[in-house]
Amino acid sequence: IKHLKSAADLDAATATLILDTAGEMAALAGREVKKLPTLRGRTVVNLFYEDSTRTRISFEAAAKRLSADVINFSAKGSSVSKGESLKDTALTLQAMGADAVVIRHPASGAPHRLASWVDGSVINAGDGTHEHPTQALLDAYTMRSRLGKIEGLKVAIVGDVLHSRVARSNVLLLTTLGAHVTVVGPPTLIPLDVAAALAPGIKVTYDLDSVLADSDVVMMLRVQTERMQDSYFPSAREYSRRYGLDAPRMRKLPEHAIVMHPGPMNRGMEIAPEVADSSRSTIVEQVANGVSARMAVLYLLLGGKA
Ligand code: CP
Repeated sequence: IKHLKSAADLDAATATLILDTAGEMAALAGREVKKLPTLRGRTVVNLFYEDSTRTRISFEAAAKRLSADVINFSAKGSSVSKGESLKDTALTLQAMGADAVVIRHPASGAPHRLASWVDGSVINAGDGTHEHPTQALLDAYTMRSRLGKIEGLKVAIVGDVLHSRVARSNVLLLTTLGAHVTVVGPPTLIPLDVAAALAPGIKVTYDLDSVLADSDVVMMLRVQTERMQDSYFPSAREYSRRYGLDAPRMRKLPEHAIVMHPGPMNRGMEIAPEVADSSRSTIVEQVANGVSARMAVLYLLLGGKA
């Protein structure tokens, strides 16, 4: 594949190749091989129109570990503030010889538009409420590292599904890889048409307590208050009481189950601090795995091997 715009771009074989390659990248890092020459002379542009900590930094680290040249573009402080369009910005980057453009944008579909304007690979680093495919890849990698497989796992994705690009990409990738996904949250944040559109066969429940004892993975989503304008949202206290993962709820999980969160977290709202910091939590591991997963994506896309 040339671009990674959606988790739907990945069939099971390609997704597994990326996860296996991420494992090889992590193993090399574990053997103190800090830098590979693979992408020497290639240019990766990080084009960020929306704030990011984890994704931006890990794409930069991944590209540098592969010896690529990295250009970081943030819309803040650029000519975007003078009204320059995404297309003109893209053509400027194209003129600078970008081999890959990693884009985060508040508009769903921006990576698709970008891919029609630039010659290089386009990687979606989060577009509006649509998708965040590399987050899904690092999450799948984390599940496989901790639990040994993905096929057959029971994964509960909990919270603000309506606004979550992480949820959408995870549902697509996990079902491709054979996991059983249940989405959980308040009815106003999981309208049935949204659930049906995510993927055939996923289950929906509005009762978090009913799924905990039978879950291998519980993935908590950030409540996206900044995107809540059009949705009814209960008070933070009510949300936390019904859908927050606290220590008593965590004790209902099977012994082997893990707790995930893509970050950034609202500690005390969707996840209690003692859960986020517990040994079941993979939150810090997810960040570390993000570098390996993104190295794999850059390596395979720019090397034409995926
Ligand atoms: N998980 C995630 O996308 O985090 P950032 O917004 O910090 O990149």
